[in-house]
Amino acid sequence: MGQLSINGNRLWDRLDELAQIGAIPETIGSSRLALTKEDGRARDLVVSWMKDLEMDVTVDGIGNVVGVWHGPKTDTALRPVMTGSHIDTVRSGGRFDGNLGVLAGLEVVQTITEMGVSSRHPIAVGFFTGEEGARFAPDMLGSLVYVGALDLETALNTVGVDGEVLGDELERIGYAGRAMCPGVIPEAFIELHIEQGPVLETEGITIGAVESVQGISWTEITIEGQSNHAGTTPMSMRRDAGYVAGEISTHVRQIANQIGGTQVGTVGKIDLHPNLVNVVASKASMTVDLRNTSEMILRESESYLATFCEEISEKENVTISSKSLARFEPVEFDNKLIETISSTADNLGFSNRRMTSGAGHDAQILARVCPSAMIFVPSKGGLSHNPEEYTSLEEVSAGANVLLHAILNVAGECS
Ligand code: GLV
Ligand code: MN
Ligand code: MN
Repeated sequence: MGQLSINGNRLWDRLDELAQIGAIPETIGSSRLALTKEDGRARDLVVSWMKDLEMDVTVDGIGNVVGVWHGPKTDTALRPVMTGSHIDTVRSGGRFDGNLGVLAGLEVVQTITEMGVSSRHPIAVGFFTGEEGARFAPDMLGSLVYVGALDLETALNTVGVDGEVLGDELERIGYAGRAMCPGVIPEAFIELHIEQGPVLETEGITIGAVESVQGISWTEITIEGQSNHAGTTPMSMRRDAGYVAGEISTHVRQIANQIGGTQVGTVGKIDLHPNLVNVVASKASMTVDLRNTSEMILRESESYLATFCEEISEKENVTISSKSLARFEPVEFDNKLIETISSTADNLGFSNRRMTSGAGHDAQILARVCPSAMIFVPSKGGLSHNPEEYTSLEEVSAGANVLLHAILNVAGECS
């Protein structure tokens, strides 16, 4: 082990070429919300690379794309060992989140082909529709459909933050495919991803062998009060939806502080109506993202939030309604695969540690149907979901090399 090595510069160049689609001016980041025309162009580019590698490419009913590679000694009756991730981004995204996992998968296939190595199992590289959930909730939507946890019709009828319907957008970019959902169950799924947090960089460690993913709870809260004149309405007579949104936002921070440990809480979006300087807001629509590694404590945080909303709606004479946008319990990855990733990193001479993921990933959904695990590489300054997100060429290459050897280990290398 250790001889076979991916071409880091080639992977780096592909990351750069993909990042040009939806490039955010004066940054190295990209803006490619799911199923926008930029996502469509990015899909076309990655599919063209899959075809260059002579992979069999299929697109399913929710637009998940899977390229399958067979070597000369591959037994096509066996289930594929799958890797991959997503190529959609948040509106102000980086170039590594998701994209690295997909392009490293292609780099693994290209390396294996060029080195004249084969594998017993086919190798599949996939990218899943709408992992980010930033346009169409929930996040990991495509992988949920892939494993049969979300029904295709429901997913196609999802309405985005811009009012567009997912199925229409999928047709528009030409990715409403014919492959069956749920899709083929892989032998195993291994996803390479940037950490998106500060742990690896702070500890000076190159590789994370991811053991688990924390639970995620997304709620959309709508507050309805009454618009009125900002100058003439006494403070005691207001039904101010904007004020209540601010109070809820502050309370979310208090919940996280009070619970402590791994609990995090975020209000990432608030829309006010009519959104004018001299009008008390009649309506506010906001999102709350709560996460914890413990399902029990995550539930506790949800219940604190619900209680606070009840109390403040009464006190401020507003109506508050809430809707769940996404809910995922914490996930444990497969022990044997985690061990394979750590020992592969050891054999290649990369410092490594076991860790948990703070972000949601397609691998946590694939874990419902097959042994799954993830490889993390460091994120500079712990930055992600930010155009400045950065991981060095050396770190990207290290992660892709661990992916290469972990895949060969599971898929059965034959020369
Ligand atoms: C997906 O990127 C998430 O929000 O964790
Ligand atoms: Mn991601
Ligand atoms: Mn992301």
